Amino acid sequence: MQTGTRRVVLVGTGFVGMSFAYSMVNQGGAEELVLIDVNHEKAVGEAMDLNHGIPFGPEKIEIWAGDYSDCKTADIVVVTAGVNQQPGETRLALVERNAKIMRDVIKNVMQSGFNGILLIASNPVDVLTYIAWQESGLPKHRVIGTGTTLDTARLRYQMGKYLDVDPRNVHGYIVGEHGDTETPLWSHTSVGVKPIFDIIKDHPEYKREDLEEIYVNVRDAAYHIIERKRATYYGIGMCITRIVKAILNDENSVLPVSAYLDGEYGLHDIFTGVPAIVNRNGIREVFNLNISSEELEQLTKSVSILKETLDTVR
Ligand code: LAC
Repeated sequence: MQTGTRRVVLVGTGFVGMSFAYSMVNQGGAEELVLIDVNHEKAVGEAMDLNHGIPFGPEKIEIWAGDYSDCKTADIVVVTAGVNQQPGETRLALVERNAKIMRDVIKNVMQSGFNGILLIASNPVDVLTYIAWQESGLPKHRVIGTGTTLDTARLRYQMGKYLDVDPRNVHGYIVGEHGDTETPLWSHTSVGVKPIFDIIKDHPEYKREDLEEIYVNVRDAAYHIIERKRATYYGIGMCITRIVKAILNDENSVLPVSAYLDGEYGLHDIFTGVPAIVNRNGIREVFNLNISSEELEQLTKSVSILKETLDTVR
């Protein structure tokens, strides 16, 4: 059980995991950060390196390379372990290899007596979050995937550039698979309280067809980054920190994490990216938005692809 000392355990000290760890230490919010890796010496080196940055950080934090017994009193276990995409490779193509790794990781986590919140970032994240939930036996609201939180951040960034506004004032969501079938909710996209379609109506320089181009850039962003630097990790690392802080600080923030659908949007028994309220107990509520028929059709298609993929590794 948790002890009041906010402990986060990270399983997987690769680029994504350590980008999260580095971002977490710089932003603060946890008293303990435990690094677990199949290569223990790597985790030891990462902990040593991070510890030397603490004097420059916002607060004291204990960081060490641990083992699965350290999960027992953890508030959150973050899982980034797994292989990542090669250039041109889809996230879904990773499912067989990463499903095996995920089952093994979650079995070890649960053997410690862990009773906190699982946060999954390994890809394909929606399918692997489902597998983590099944393997853990935890209630569905305490198993969360990063979902389309990063995709939504990419959308807000691109829309901010396009409209020359602060991306923090662009409100909108990408939903569905964190991947090639992800879906933009233009019907719920606004700048401040002004809907995007009113902005386009009032400003002839902005075109509806530009939105399609922006969506494609968001959907394919990871491919373009991987082509150039072999992997993505800063964006997802900060995304994981955002979700961890929403949990640890009991924020009740709305984030498009991969959450279990139990009838929302007419969809059942799958984890996928949808706006949800996130707090100390995990998912408080999944928003069942009144989206357009086209958006619902795209989301339904996305979920059916996820279910087909899940069926190959059940
Ligand atoms: C990306 C990885 C995290 O989209 O899937 O960058």
